[in-house]
Amino acid sequence: MKQRKITVAGAGNVGATAAFIAAQHRLGDIVLIDIIKGLAEGKALDMSQAGPVEGYDCKVTGTTDWSLTKDSDIVIVTSGMPRKPGMSRDDLLAKNTEIIKAVTEQIVKYSPSSFIIVVCNPLDAMVNAAAMISGFDKNRVMGMAGALDSARFAHFISEKLSVPASSIDCLLLGGHGDDMVPLPRFTKVSGKPLTELLDEEIIEGIVKRTRMGGIEVVNLMGTSAYYAPAAGAVKMAEAILSDSRIVMPCCAYCDKEYDVGGCFVGVPVVLGAKGVEKVVELELNEQEKKAFAASAGHVKDLVEKIRKMI
Ligand code: 2OP
Repeated sequence: MKQRKITVAGAGNVGATAAFIAAQHRLGDIVLIDIIKGLAEGKALDMSQAGPVEGYDCKVTGTTDWSLTKDSDIVIVTSGMPRKPGMSRDDLLAKNTEIIKAVTEQIVKYSPSSFIIVVCNPLDAMVNAAAMISGFDKNRVMGMAGALDSARFAHFISEKLSVPASSIDCLLLGGHGDDMVPLPRFTKVSGKPLTELLDEEIIEGIVKRTRMGGIEVVNLMGTSAYYAPAAGAVKMAEAILSDSRIVMPCCAYCDKEYDVGGCFVGVPVVLGAKGVEKVVELELNEQEKKAFAASAGHVKDLVEKIRKMI
């Protein structure tokens, strides 16, 4: 079988970590690209030298030259400014729209058949921008947020219940912001709904901490998280490349689904060889519907701002 090619745009913390995890998981040859001369080259060389230790022998190339990304199967876009303390993800909108535009144009030029997995913030807005600019089929453009937010949710639940996170199946909806909608009713621990295992007040505390999961890390270390976001992006790439058809929340196009009306926003999807193969629709109660509509409305407001910028 032809060796797969994964490009990671942006060799900062998230990009370099994603490239490293992708190499460790043997997803294919990796191209790490950045505009800062030497950054991607140095990190790729370092990762190549970790290969003999870790037992992977894929090619890891670092570059500033987009032509080396030609014919990538998947492009993970991490390029963009990260948050600093005191900033919301939305504060990054103008700067990161410029960046996603430049990056997406290169993806269209060199890898017109690829899948795009966006990681930069404000996440849902940037996915919408990448879709508008690329004109790619909507199943080929998606964003990594649900994998991260549900992992955070699972981690906090596992701490509270002293159970392995691997026994927890979390679901959430909505944009990757403070108004995201973790779904305790649809979250199961060894098959049992979370709502049967913890008091409402404790669940509310976990939901709140999940919503603020990104800023908690920013406030601790002065910059945005990267291990979990990178792991989430690679998990999505892996699902596509292996055609696993796993169900996971990610930012995907919804029209009639959940009555969104034509916007990319966080929902559970089936991820497989065709990218987003299906949006999974859950029977939401009124409160969940309202919270999701508010979150999707917020994403749509940002998308309107983007339309004026691109
Ligand atoms: C987060 O840590 C990077 O937005 C990202 O939530």
